[in-house]
Amino acid sequence: MCPSPNSALPSRRDTAQNPPMPRAYNPLILALDVPDATAALQLAAAVGPHVGALKIGMELFTAAGPDLVRRIRDTGASVFLDLKYHDIPNTVAKAVAAATRLDVQMLTIHTGGGAEMMQAAESSAQETARSLGRTPPLVLGVTVLTSMDSAQLSAVTLEPDPARQVERLARLASTAGLRGLVCSPLELRMLQAFLPATVQRVTPGIRLTPPQPGDDQKRTLGPAEALANGAHWLVVGRPIYAAPDPVAAARAILALCES
Ligand code: C5P
Repeated sequence: MCPSPNSALPSRRDTAQNPPMPRAYNPLILALDVPDATAALQLAAAVGPHVGALKIGMELFTAAGPDLVRRIRDTGASVFLDLKYHDIPNTVAKAVAAATRLDVQMLTIHTGGGAEMMQAAESSAQETARSLGRTPPLVLGVTVLTSMDSAQLSAVTLEPDPARQVERLARLASTAGLRGLVCSPLELRMLQAFLPATVQRVTPGIRLTPPQPGDDQKRTLGPAEALANGAHWLVVGRPIYAAPDPVAAARAILALCES
């Protein structure tokens, strides 16, 4: 059974043909990693009613901009703006304020930006939302990208063990007051030992089979296992949008989440 999220994401109504899943919320987030607004809006219309939120990342945002965020919000979907801000505190705070004004429900910053940057981001989300009379977006700290293995990590940090680096960054993020983290599903159990239960855990790196040659994701796990290990939200891209039938793929993953 999935943990209950302490999040302000509005619940989605399912379609008449497909009754709602027997859980308090839908933990699946579809990554709209497609090149343009047309493709994104098609996927949003088809798969949006079957997932808990739609994620707009750097490819789509760079191509289609804030107008697409508004159009996806207009479909009734919750939006996760995954631009992974990593800059000085003042700049990140202003970007978070702009994202909050766009009425996104989740957004990402890099924990490697440091405690002061994370505090500035969280404060900016809170203050901007308060001035608009809205619920603040969940500011998620990205720890170690799920595509990084030990060899890649040791090339850019002094710490070759992804789990130890995630622990270090997660402690920093939690102390800085972030209410959510992005990590691989492999680190979830380790995080449970010290992270407050209220901190939302979001995991990409969801795969139905062990990592295949050519896949950039290295630290992966199945959806049911990720939820069992303490994930609140599962970010899934290619296994859904690149499937021959994305709706069927999303529903099959949700069925696994219920098993
Ligand atoms: O296609 P796939 O399921 O690998 O997509 C995973 C999504 O999650 C992508 O949009 C990727 O940018 C995002 N993501 C990630 N690792 C992180 C944070 C976000 O893979 N640490």
